[in-house]
Amino acid sequence: MPDTTSNQSVAETRVIEANVAFYLQFANKYDSYETFLFNPAQQKSLENDLDRIGSYFVSLERPPSCLDCGGGTGNLTLKMCKRGWAVTVVDVSEKMIGLLQEKAKAHGYSPMIIHSPIERYLKKTRQTYDLITFSSVLHHLYSYLFVVEQSVQRLRPGGVFYSNYDPLARRSPFWARVFESLDTTIAKVLFDRKDVLPGIGRRLRKLFSPSDTEFGRTLLTAGDLAELHVASGVDDRQILQILQTSGFSIVEHERFPTGRTNFTRSLNNRFRLLESFKILARRSQDQAGSSPARAPSANASRIPMGNAP
Ligand SMILES: C[S@@+](CC[C@H](N)C(=O)[O-])C[C@H]1O[C@@H](n2cnc3c(N)ncnc32)[C@H](O)[C@@H]1O
Repeated sequence: MPDTTSNQSVAETRVIEANVAFYLQFANKYDSYETFLFNPAQQKSLENDLDRIGSYFVSLERPPSCLDCGGGTGNLTLKMCKRGWAVTVVDVSEKMIGLLQEKAKAHGYSPMIIHSPIERYLKKTRQTYDLITFSSVLHHLYSYLFVVEQSVQRLRPGGVFYSNYDPLARRSPFWARVFESLDTTIAKVLFDRKDVLPGIGRRLRKLFSPSDTEFGRTLLTAGDLAELHVASGVDDRQILQILQTSGFSIVEHERFPTGRTNFTRSLNNRFRLLESFKILARRSQDQAGSSPARAPSANASRIPMGNAP
C-alpha cells in the first residue's frame, strides 16, 4: 500500500522549500511590487478591519495577543504593533522576516519573530491567542484547511480569526489566465521593468516544459510551487464551515475582484475574472477555550524553530 502520509509530508516539504527559495529571490522586491501593500484604499481597508477587531478587545484590559501567520515583511504585524498589541509572527522565509525585523526596529516595535513553517509551529506549540491572522498566505500552504483547523483551536473565547487576500477558484479559467497575463505584464512594466522580458521568456518556456509528476503541473520556477493554490483557488466555503462548526460567528465574508494596477482592477470590477476573499469571524465568548497563554514578552525578538523548513 502506498504510504500516503509520508508522500504528503514530502509534498508539503517541497512546497515549504519552494516558498523559502521564492522569497529568497523576491523578498527585496516584495514591498514595491505587491500593490496591495501600497494601494491607499486597500491599506485603509486593512486599518479599518483592525480597528473593528480592536473594538472587540477593549474589555480585555491588556494588549490582545496576536499570531500573524506568514507575516512576511510586516503588512499586518506593524499595524498591530502600532496599536500596542502583543504580536507573534511566524514565517518560513528568513529573508522576509529579516526585512520585517529592520522595519520593526526602526519603529521601536518588538514583535516576537519566529522563523518556522506555520505547520510546524502549530504542531509543536500549544499557545493560544486573541487574534490569528493570515494575509495572502493560505494559498501558499500545502494543506491550508488543516492549518485553519489547527488555528481555530488556538483562539480563546471571544477570539478573532482574520484572513484576507487569498484567491478564489476561477469561474472561467481561460479568460482568467488571459487577464492574469495582462495584469502581470502591466504590473511588471510599472513596478519591475527589468523582469518584463525574462517574465515573458519564462511564460514561453513553461509552454514547452514537462509536468511535475507529483503535482501534475509545470514547475519552472520556485514561484510555481510556492503559490500552490493560486490557480485552483482557496475554498472559502470550507473555511467558513470549519469556523461555524467550531462555534464561530461569521462577522464578515466578502468576495472581491482583484488586479495589481488601478486599470486592471477597474477592468476586473466589471468582469470578476480573478477574485479574492476576506473572512472575519469571532469565537463565542462563553465557549470553554484552551487555558490562557502567556502574552509574548515585549523584549522577545527572533526565535528559529530548527532550520526551516
Ligand atoms: C504573499 S506573502 C504575504 C506576507 C504578508 N502576510 C503580507 O500581507 O504582505 C506570503 C508569506 O507567507 C510565508 N509563508 C509561505 N509558506 C509558509 C509556511 N508554510 N509557513 C509560514 N510562512 C509561510 C512566505 O514566506 C511569505 O512571507
